[in-house]
Amino acid sequence: MLSPSIESAINLQLKHEIESAYLYLAMSAYCESVNLPGIATWLRIQWQEELSHGMKLFRYVNDRRGRVTLETVEKPPKDYASPIAVFTLVLEHERKVTAAINNLYDLAIRENDHATQIELQWFVQEQVEEEKNADEVLHMLRMVGESGLSLLMLDRQLGQRAAGK
Ligand code: FEO
Repeated sequence: MLSPSIESAINLQLKHEIESAYLYLAMSAYCESVNLPGIATWLRIQWQEELSHGMKLFRYVNDRRGRVTLETVEKPPKDYASPIAVFTLVLEHERKVTAAINNLYDLAIRENDHATQIELQWFVQEQVEEEKNADEVLHMLRMVGESGLSLLMLDRQLGQRAAGK
């Protein structure tokens, strides 16, 4: 059984994960539109990962005999200034998600909810990876600049990203 406050906080986190998926799918569409299919693929893999994060929370609420509530998600922007602007936003977004996970974890500690703490430990560790991945791509983009052969090569490299990485 989940307490009402934990249930509502996990449902809010579920919304954040689905919102992240939606944002990355919009970014993927933008990258397709500026002829960067590799970066678009990278972002679609991220979209799938975010959906799987959301589903992990969905299953957890159900397993604890709570009720999933699906909230309205925000419409993501259609256009972005550049690939660097995209990944600057990805990194900022992931930092916000990290803060939200940490707040949720703090609530689980205050409420003495051990099972939720254990469930959230996976997310705490995952956020280390999420921020690192976004930061790495941002650094590579800054190194190669906004156009030219180097960007095309980086685009090809990022398009090799395998699902789950
Ligand atoms: Fe599910 Fe990118 O955090």
